[in-house]
Amino acid sequence: MTAKIIDGKQIAAQMRAELKQEAAKLKQKGITAGLGVILVGEDPASQSYVTAKERACEEIGIYSDDNRLAAETTQKDLIALIEKMNADSKINGILVQLPLPKHINESEILLAISPEKDVDGFHPVNIGKMVAGQKAFLPCTPHGIIQLLMRSGIAIEGAHVVIVGRSNIVGKPLANMLIQKAPTGNATVTVCHTRTKDLAKYTRQADIVIAAAGRPNTITADMVKDGVVVIDVGVNRVDDATKKRGYRLVGDVDFESVKAKASFITPVPGGVGPMTITMLLYNTIESAKKAIKL
Ligand code: GUN
Repeated sequence: MTAKIIDGKQIAAQMRAELKQEAAKLKQKGITAGLGVILVGEDPASQSYVTAKERACEEIGIYSDDNRLAAETTQKDLIALIEKMNADSKINGILVQLPLPKHINESEILLAISPEKDVDGFHPVNIGKMVAGQKAFLPCTPHGIIQLLMRSGIAIEGAHVVIVGRSNIVGKPLANMLIQKAPTGNATVTVCHTRTKDLAKYTRQADIVIAAAGRPNTITADMVKDGVVVIDVGVNRVDDATKKRGYRLVGDVDFESVKAKASFITPVPGGVGPMTITMLLYNTIESAKKAIKL
C-alpha cells in the first residue's frame, strides 16, 4: 500500500477562503477582526511561526497588532501589555507565542489572558470547558488535526487513536477532544510518552497514530500496522548543508518508509502546520462574531 498524502496546505486554503468571506461579512457590519500577537525573545522557530500567523491574518483580512519584545521583558510588563489588549475592543484574540523565556512564569501569563480572547485555548477556563464538553475556544493544533481527519473522510468514531506525546499544546487536549461524545470524537484513545515502555506495542495497535513527540524518526515502519493513518505533528530542524539556510524540516515520522505501509499520511512541512494557523484565524473570527453577538 502507498499512502494518500493528506494535503494540509490545500485543506487550509479551502478553510481560509471560507474565513475570508466571514471576515468580509464582519467588515460590512463595520467590524475588523483583530489579533494581538506577542513574541518575547528571538527564538528563530518562534519568529517564523509568528510571521506566518501575521501573514495569514493579512491574507484573510484580520488586523494584527504585532508586538515583538526583548528577551529581558519582565513578567510585569508582559502582563501589563496583555491587560491592555484585554481591554482593547479592536482586539478579539490574544496570542502569546510559547515557549516563553525561562524567567517568565508561563501559567501566570496564560491566566492573565481574558478567556473571551484566548484564541489559543490555553486558559484553564477554556481547557475546563473543553474537557467538560462545553463550547470553548479549542486549541489550534488538535482542532486542526481533527479537521484534517474529518475533511479527508477518515472515521474518528470507533477508531483506536494512539497519541505519542503528552504536551499541554497537543497531546493532552487532543486526547480529550477525541474522547468527547461527538462526531469529531467517540474514539478510543491511548496516550504514550517518554516513559512509555515498549512504544511499538501500542502504536502497532493503532488505526490512527498521531506523532507529537518532537523527535525525528520516533515512528518507523515496523511500529505501525498496514493501512494505518499517520498524522505527523513534529517540526524538527535537521542540519542539511545542501540547503541554503543550512537545515531542513522533518517530522517525527520516518515519512518514506511509513508512507509505504499507511493508508493516509501527513507530510512535514505542509501537513498539520498550515492547519494550526488556520484554526487560530477561525477562533479569532469566532471571537469577533461573539463580540458583536452575531
Ligand atoms: N508554540 C507552539 N505551538 C503554539 C501554539 O499553538 N500557540 C502558541 N501561542 N504558542 C505555540
